[in-house]
Amino acid sequence: MTQHDNSLSRTALVVVAHHRTDSLTAHTARRTAARLEAAGYRVDLLDLHAEGFDPRMNAADQPDWGNREKAYSDEVHAHMRRILDADVVVAVFPVYWQSVPAVLKGWIDRVWNYGFAYGRSKPRLAGKRILWLALAGATSDDPVVEGMQAVLETNLSEGIASYCGFSQSTVGLLTDAEERPQRVDAEGNLLVGEAVSGAEREAQYADFDRRARELVEKFVAEERAGA
Ligand SMILES: Cc1cc2nc3c(=O)[nH]c(=O)nc-3n(C[C@H](O)[C@H](O)[C@H](O)COP(=O)(O)O)c2cc1C
Repeated sequence: MTQHDNSLSRTALVVVAHHRTDSLTAHTARRTAARLEAAGYRVDLLDLHAEGFDPRMNAADQPDWGNREKAYSDEVHAHMRRILDADVVVAVFPVYWQSVPAVLKGWIDRVWNYGFAYGRSKPRLAGKRILWLALAGATSDDPVVEGMQAVLETNLSEGIASYCGFSQSTVGLLTDAEERPQRVDAEGNLLVGEAVSGAEREAQYADFDRRARELVEKFVAEERAGA
């Protein structure tokens, strides 16, 4: 039997939160999906913008604390199904205000709902693993990065994934996602550098792709090892 045998294959839900298909985020999501497929995963690619996901909470999907069996909207139930079918989830998104963009936040708000994602003695998402691939405009040497990593881990790994029973949650922070390097100085000014070009630019993107690939490969290796 090969790793592509259906009885052995694992499913990865790759969630993309970006409004442009030519963005670095979308590019990174496509490469991530290809890498997961090469590693033997069946990939379900969920492009929240392309699928027209509405991140706004509504009455149908608002939790009823007295009823964890509440029937949410059909749209939300379809998304819940896709999460249940996945062994691993990989969310790829740009960091907005040291957090996730609204479309991803709304997907979590509406879909990772009471009675499904949390609020049960046997959580339905228990044992799943998640990788958050977070693209940040800040450069790696910006002192803001350490706090950004910490706040994302607290929010996404502790506040959400662990709360919902995931057995592993990794925040992979990909700095230097902007063509023109961004840095905040001591006074809080945003310093925007010059865009590089030619071979230097190629090297910058190759390095970015390498860092993204290493995060995905490490995540896959840990899943395989059951670490
Ligand atoms: C509304 C908004 C908020 C942002 N907040 C942050 C931030 O808190 N930290 C950071 O490093 N970059 C921040 N950025 C920069 C984005 O992370 C960066 O533009 C993005 O990762 C580039 O990837 P893309 O080309 O796929 O959009 C922000 C950008 C926008 C538009």
